[in-house]
Amino acid sequence: MNNNENTQVQSTLKDVFKDDFYIGAALSLNQISGNEPNALALVEKQFNSITPENILKWEEIHPEPNKYNFEPADRYVAFGQKNKMFVVGHTLVWFYQTPDWVFQDESGKPLDREALLKRMKEHIFTVMGRYKGRIHGWDVVNEAIMADGSFRKCKWLDIIGEDYILKAFEYARQADPGAQLYYNEYDLVKQPKCEAVIRLIRDLQSKGVRIDGIGIQGHWFLDYPSIEELETSILSLSKLGVKLMVTEMDIGVLPFYPVDSKLVDLSSFDPEMQKKHNPYPDGLPDSVQKDLANRYAELFSLFHKHRDKFSRVTFWAVHDGQSWRSYMPISGRADYPMLFDRDCKPKPAFYAVCRTANA
Ligand code: GLA
Repeated sequence: MNNNENTQVQSTLKDVFKDDFYIGAALSLNQISGNEPNALALVEKQFNSITPENILKWEEIHPEPNKYNFEPADRYVAFGQKNKMFVVGHTLVWFYQTPDWVFQDESGKPLDREALLKRMKEHIFTVMGRYKGRIHGWDVVNEAIMADGSFRKCKWLDIIGEDYILKAFEYARQADPGAQLYYNEYDLVKQPKCEAVIRLIRDLQSKGVRIDGIGIQGHWFLDYPSIEELETSILSLSKLGVKLMVTEMDIGVLPFYPVDSKLVDLSSFDPEMQKKHNPYPDGLPDSVQKDLANRYAELFSLFHKHRDKFSRVTFWAVHDGQSWRSYMPISGRADYPMLFDRDCKPKPAFYAVCRTANA
């Protein structure tokens, strides 16, 4: 560590960006359960917002009809309250990590529209209701639009129709009128997708549905997306008059592999392909460490430039060892997408990000 970094180690993300936006981290069940004290201490020191990686997803909190598993979520919310953080709920209505029973009756037959709406409402009222006033913002609907701009084909759409999104926001507003409500999406730099999301939000707004923010997920790479295309999408989305957030930021340093591909294990590849897709099993070379720092710096410079439009930037893990990037869509790899390494130590990217706040 050079002197420069030594002095800057005193900086914390939440302090350097305190006049700009919240800085958040996604917490794993392990962390929420108290099994990673170092990571939790880092969260307390560096971040002023939290999102749960999985424990509020339907399959986790509502695994069976009439059975809710609130214990981890109670702990999560208590941690945020204790530390006076902006606490995020993720996520209420999504095509993924939602059990099949949700869409079926007791005999396994598909529900009709009314029955599924009832179930959606009951879930939203129960989960949001329990944390009313304590979870401050919710990803109400996650990933409803495809890359070509069409609605994602899923059971919510099949059974309810396109207004399942409107209904989810209506129920959420009723369940906790004080909470911020968001639409969350990935690949918003893809123009047809971005335009479709804008149409969707405008349509909801014209029907009197209030949406408070758009979550730009931010599962990016060293060379994708370009700063220009990202800035174009930020400018277009900001015209909706809602706050923007980067909700799931991580920068994969491994070769591009589409995040929505089918899950595979690295061991199913031949040796050459294994090497190609897992080039740094024993640690990140300095040169790539530098590339990562530069990439984070250019992205944060962009967010800082547009700080009037952003309310939060959340990282999709606390440290490298937690990141889903090492096990999805290819499991068995070693990725290095975060600002803190597997020992929770700041990487060059951390210092690079802090510097952008004062530039
Ligand atoms: C999406 C979801 C997150 C998480 C990531 C990676 O972005 O919104 O909850 O599941 O995929 O797994």
